Amino acid sequence: MADPQIGIYGLGTMGAALALNMADNGIEIAVSNRSAGPIAEFMTRAEPFADHVTAVDTLEALIETLPVPRLLLAMIPSTAPMDGFLDQVIPLLAEGDTVIDAGNADFHSTRARSARLAEHGLHFVGLGVSGGEEGARHGPSMMFGGSEESWSGLEPILSKIAATFEGAPCADRMGPDGAGHFVKTVHNGIEYADMQMIAEVYDLLRHGAGLSPAEIGAQFARWNDGPLESYLFEITGKVLSYDDPLGAGPMVDAILDRAGQKGTGRWTAIEAVKLGQSATMIEGAVAARAWSAEKALREVAGAALGADRAALAPDMGELEAALLAARILEYAQGFRILDAASAEYGWQLDFARIAEIWRAGCIIRARLLDDISAAFRDGPPERQLFLAPRFAPVLERGIPALRQLVSEGIAAGYPLPVLASALAFWDTLRQPRGTAALIQAQRDFFGRHGFDRVDGRAVHHGPWWG
Ligand code: 6PG
Repeated sequence: MADPQIGIYGLGTMGAALALNMADNGIEIAVSNRSAGPIAEFMTRAEPFADHVTAVDTLEALIETLPVPRLLLAMIPSTAPMDGFLDQVIPLLAEGDTVIDAGNADFHSTRARSARLAEHGLHFVGLGVSGGEEGARHGPSMMFGGSEESWSGLEPILSKIAATFEGAPCADRMGPDGAGHFVKTVHNGIEYADMQMIAEVYDLLRHGAGLSPAEIGAQFARWNDGPLESYLFEITGKVLSYDDPLGAGPMVDAILDRAGQKGTGRWTAIEAVKLGQSATMIEGAVAARAWSAEKALREVAGAALGADRAALAPDMGELEAALLAARILEYAQGFRILDAASAEYGWQLDFARIAEIWRAGCIIRARLLDDISAAFRDGPPERQLFLAPRFAPVLERGIPALRQLVSEGIAAGYPLPVLASALAFWDTLRQPRGTAALIQAQRDFFGRHGFDRVDGRAVHHGPWWG
């Protein structure tokens, strides 16, 4: 058997799926796990590719099995366990070896770990992997952050196991240290906004237009045949078509309306604010998940304040146009965060390339991404997607539809945190003269904070200071 090209430590759901994907693609792998059970289970699943797999009992044996410079993928939680793992492996590794974290990690941790390993002549890679278990097994989208040396070792492996779009692998180097995990975080922020936007439309159609879940699912399936085609529309169509096997009617009605979150959407909103940005559509989606968790409060408030909302009759063609405009704005916000982070951390992120590797394998894959990558290749004015000439006709058609949808929805009493904030973003950025002059006057009045004058004259305080 040839030497293993990579070691995988941690054979949980994602670790096992990535390892099987590698072995299935003829990559020689060595695997191990902290406890023995998952190793035996993995070897049963890996039987068809057993020629490509070496299983060992301990981390020490795994490291010994790998030729130097080693590639060691650690599929363990990216929080404290990862730091404990690094304590353990650093003394066992040799200069030039690479440790890879393919979980959803806070990119600040990834940067700190890269710096820590660099002190020992080692490399640390933050690899964003999207596509869930199915993607990991059959072709994820992968966002690599780390050194050129690690990339040259890992690239042949990632290219073989990645999803492909028109034959090109959906995996690339985003930049050094935390760049890959940051891009994955923003991917998840966009994922949150897209999911919430879909949920808002579902609410309008279900309770405003009185459609059944199955009818709404069929509508999502129809939209998925057009410019809104995307994985999230596709699965929404499917999810809404199911009935509860326990007999409680539509499956969606049997599920408690409390959304979980592991934190990546929240990280996106937090990092956006720290970077002087505000991704309001992503923030709206994070807020919606947080409010959804307050089920008991909503029960009390609904009884006290009334939960009625009026009927609506949205036109499906108008809705499609509105959703397409909102989706452009949602991506525009995501890429603005990437732009700000790229400048802050000196990453030189390639936005066209990012859009390209999101076209297959990942959760936010969407037909629109092909146009987004083309728009970035053309170089949109001010690097803003919403100013890209190729989106002008879509926005010209979609913004009035979005305006109508949001105004009718809000007037009828529906919460639309993502769709409404899309318009606030659009309407704010298209105003050359905004409302901040008054904010500045207030700040100066109560705190003598000073302001700049329109005419540039060197008078920085108002007459209220005498
Ligand atoms: C992906 C997903 C994946 C996972 C998220 C869900 O790209 O494959 O984003 O990473 O589903 O962690 O996050 P929440 O639990 O926060 O919804």
